[in-house]
Amino acid sequence: MHQNMKRTIILLLFLSSIVFSQSFKFVAMSDSRGSDNGVNTPVLSALIDHMLKNYPELKFVVFAGDMVNGHEYDTDRTKRELLHWKEVMAPIYNSPNIAWPGVWPVVGNHEIRHRDDENNFRDVFQDVYMNGPKEQKGLSYSFDFGNSHFCIMNTDAWYYGDLSDTTDDRRDWHQIKYMDWVEADLKSATARGMKHIFTFSHEMPFPIGGHLRDGLPNLGSNFKGKIDSTRQYYLDRRDAFWNLMQKYKADAHICGHEHTYGRQEVNGVYQVLNGSSGAPLYNFNPRYDKDSTTGWTEMTYEEAVPYYKALNYNYGPGKNSQRSENFVGKRAFNYSVYEVLNDKVIVKTYGAYPTKGSNTKFDMDIELIDEFVIEK
Ligand SMILES: [Fe+2]
Repeated sequence: MHQNMKRTIILLLFLSSIVFSQSFKFVAMSDSRGSDNGVNTPVLSALIDHMLKNYPELKFVVFAGDMVNGHEYDTDRTKRELLHWKEVMAPIYNSPNIAWPGVWPVVGNHEIRHRDDENNFRDVFQDVYMNGPKEQKGLSYSFDFGNSHFCIMNTDAWYYGDLSDTTDDRRDWHQIKYMDWVEADLKSATARGMKHIFTFSHEMPFPIGGHLRDGLPNLGSNFKGKIDSTRQYYLDRRDAFWNLMQKYKADAHICGHEHTYGRQEVNGVYQVLNGSSGAPLYNFNPRYDKDSTTGWTEMTYEEAVPYYKALNYNYGPGKNSQRSENFVGKRAFNYSVYEVLNDKVIVKTYGAYPTKGSNTKFDMDIELIDEFVIEK
């Protein structure tokens, strides 16, 4: 072999080893609450089995909240449910190729329903970094893995008010309370040369169906179109967060809360909603021809229009009633695998559609339901 060719081959092998060493896979999933001690164990277990069988090289899972039902008064019960959830997730924690801590937890509204619940969560999930904002240690945090940065935000915090007054407290859901910390975190990740940025919260910036009333925009019930100062506050905070995503060129924001799958690109940044690895499946936002409701999570088209307008959605005859025209959604139990390469991320979502007449069970084989690429 010619000497130059030899050199070229060695150089190529060297370069490909660098690229290879930086690539890794992680999984995102969310919302597994159900009736077995707070967990939908059959669905969650089936998804985990499928994942570990097909991706034994998986490095970790990020779970975007609402692992369990939780309880408003019985905070011991919430803790027991979380411990049970960890047992159901044991195959991931024990997988031979998994990296510490196996599962990165995100706080959901079902985990924080009582003033003691934040400490419960910290007790159950001690293996996280304690680098979050002062009041949020163990609940909001961030870390680097390979060429990527991961920022985990609690969007369902508790408001304590006067600590000596046990009546001066309440849930303080649907917002990112520590935006300065988020900005400093993304800024330093960029300064360190992190190639990819992934952010996570339970509540979604752009509702896709079932929770058009809340999530981060938090327009509330019976919204008829008047944006008062409270609604403006939530919308502004949501917008401020998405501006940060654009500013720091984040790859994707991954969330849950709505029990279905949907991804879309908003101003150049992906929102991937991985709702339901067991929680009762929701329908998408009403279609133009939809004229009936099936409970609190769904609205008639007429009821939904003020929300669509305030949220700047793509709605009307033949439209998808979503924030983006490029929205892709599947009403399926699901998880997404992120294959992180140097210059792109390949995202594959696997799922199963519910058994006819049920929104908590499935009886089909889990299959690939979506695939897209995030180019850097
Ligand atoms: Fe939720």
